[in-house]
Amino acid sequence: MSQATPVNLTARYPDLDNGPVRTDIYWQPEIFDQEIERIFRPTWHCVGREEEVAQTGEFFVKELPTFELSVIVVRSEDGAVRAFLNACPHRGNQVELTACGRRSAFTCKFHAWSYDLEGRLKSVPDEAGFPTLDKAAIGLTEFPCDTWQGFIFVNLEDNPAASLADYLGEQGADLEGYPFDQGTARFQFAGEVETNWKFLVDSFCETYHVPFLHRRTIHSTMAGPDNPHGRVVDVRLKGDHRTTSVWGNRAYEPKSVQGMALTHTPGVSITSAGADTVELPRGLNQTRSPNWSIDVTVFFPGFVCVIGAGMYFTHQMWPLAANRTRWEMTGYLRPAGSAAERFGQEHAMVELRDAVLEDANTLERMQRNVATGLIRHFHFHDHELSLRYQHYTVCKYLGIQP
Ligand code: FES
Ligand SMILES: [Fe+2]
Repeated sequence: MSQATPVNLTARYPDLDNGPVRTDIYWQPEIFDQEIERIFRPTWHCVGREEEVAQTGEFFVKELPTFELSVIVVRSEDGAVRAFLNACPHRGNQVELTACGRRSAFTCKFHAWSYDLEGRLKSVPDEAGFPTLDKAAIGLTEFPCDTWQGFIFVNLEDNPAASLADYLGEQGADLEGYPFDQGTARFQFAGEVETNWKFLVDSFCETYHVPFLHRRTIHSTMAGPDNPHGRVVDVRLKGDHRTTSVWGNRAYEPKSVQGMALTHTPGVSITSAGADTVELPRGLNQTRSPNWSIDVTVFFPGFVCVIGAGMYFTHQMWPLAANRTRWEMTGYLRPAGSAAERFGQEHAMVELRDAVLEDANTLERMQRNVATGLIRHFHFHDHELSLRYQHYTVCKYLGIQP
């Protein structure tokens, strides 16, 4: 018989209290502008996976909507992954118009200035018409770019305040060794949600809502007779980042079609993610709870990795306004070995999609209400510690009281 975790998580962190918190940081436009400058601009942003640029010349174009920037990510001749502003130094046209592919050079469609895979200007039509042009001094604008466990990150500062390894810190180190590279079968859901970026992050970091909001979907998988309130297994705070380890109902009996899907793809669904034999890195299910299902790790501010033993998916939040966020959810699965396994994966994707749409729907209502200014405080449950910590961390960066 399993036991739900007691309500003593917040008490482990004496710098946090259990009191109510201010709500203006979820809707005030002036505060939002400060968040972009102080939190989002200086940080590292995940733009994709190395498997997408495995070969020399393979590239993809990634939009960073928070900054209204388009970035080309490419595997260069020297084997490094590089990130360039997708803009031509001649007169500013977008250099690459294709979403992804493989090239030996990037050639602008306007006047055909051409750049090699290291971003250097290589050829200029009718070069005699530019008598003072110093070709060697001209190239695509390059951003700092680095990788962690196959995830590609870029930074928009010329000299980032922290290296990627330092930025990811203990939280990054504790997840090293997970077979992220095996998840080469990808799927993505993306869209704009009329809500603050922090509400979107929060919705994946607590399961207090699961018995109610998800009563028709995943309710009995993350709550159950042993854990009626949907308490989590654990929450760990590491630097600015944190991980919520989610409880899984081992006595859950799947419905008929779901049961068929789970038989063929154990460990793939959010409802069965703990049921796999992958050896876990130290930071995954850190308490080694037998009731664990998935970990939700947030790399502050807006990159969320949801990791189970047999699958993982990421959420990337791109703030657009105090009340609007572009949300990109990307799932990574091991390629199916049979049609039955493929069916199980499709089922898992749809199950996940339905659950997250229930979350998103609620967030827009919350946003409208909080923006009235009439809800002045929020109250976080002990097991909503991840949310409280985000709140405190944002306030720390903004230099204001929680
Ligand atoms: S703007 Fe690119 S070649 Fe002219
Ligand atoms: Fe949810």
